[in-house]
Amino acid sequence: MQEAQPSRTALRVAMRRAAHQMYDAHPLILEDPMALRILGKEYLPEVERTRFKLHKPHSVALRAFLVARSRHAEELLARAVAQGITQYVLLGAGLDTFAHRNAHAGLHVFEVDHPATQEWKRELLHANGMVIPKSLTYVPVDFEHQQLATQLAEAGFDTSRPTFFAWLGVVPYLTLEAFRSTVALIASQPAGSGVVMDYGQPREALPPLERLARDSMSARVALAGEPFQLFFTPEDMRLELRAFHGIDDLGSAELNERYFSGRSDNLRLIGAGGRIVSGWL
Ligand SMILES: C[S@@+](CC[C@H](N)C(=O)[O-])C[C@H]1O[C@@H](n2cnc3c(N)ncnc32)[C@H](O)[C@@H]1O
Repeated sequence: MQEAQPSRTALRVAMRRAAHQMYDAHPLILEDPMALRILGKEYLPEVERTRFKLHKPHSVALRAFLVARSRHAEELLARAVAQGITQYVLLGAGLDTFAHRNAHAGLHVFEVDHPATQEWKRELLHANGMVIPKSLTYVPVDFEHQQLATQLAEAGFDTSRPTFFAWLGVVPYLTLEAFRSTVALIASQPAGSGVVMDYGQPREALPPLERLARDSMSARVALAGEPFQLFFTPEDMRLELRAFHGIDDLGSAELNERYFSGRSDNLRLIGAGGRIVSGWL
């Protein structure tokens, strides 16, 4: 990420969650009225203006992936809370609104993000009349240059309690070193802790047509100043997560079956590029 610049990709993802509320058939995959509110007068009109583009097949499939990953993370979180977890860390939170919809009594949310993105989010919340809940703590961290453990400790994070971590839409933007040090931090948490993240397969693992789609997406994020730099095959990811058990690594077919079967619209994933993996300690 460019220093001192809020994440443009975070805005794009948030716009797609908003588009899901506005244009997709019910039942929605992710019920998130706050996704509209946080964009407010500044950004919501763009979702309306680009309505035509949002109905193109690749855009629909990308939106399907984005809402499925949030839904899946929130389902796993609910399971973790039922087993007694009281801390939720969103790594690279972007404009995620879970903390404003948190219905789990006693669950504390830590939103970790690049300082520039976090500051911009807080300005947007303020501008759109969204109150910061008491159960939310902001933790500004640049994963490439700062120690996540130190910043979390300063923010009051309790390392003696099991925690659930969500790391959505962040891994492809990191260096391998930053990825591994964050995985090591998560792996050092108490038994019962868990993590969910999404990741992309390397270009060479994709069929030729999907390589073109990947190239176009890579060009777009690079232009936004946030180039992709990290991909894994499922086999490599399993090795990276060897400290975890109960690994569940879902591709498009599994996600389509779980979340998109029997829909009245064409919202579903296409291709094999993106995967969502979770594991437990
Ligand atoms: C594509 S957005 C995803 C945001 C959010 N998780 C979501 O799903 O809407 C990528 C997020 O990663 C964060 N990010 C990227 N590189 C980072 C870094 N080096 N340190 C901290 N955060 C970073 C950005 O600030 C941004 O919030």
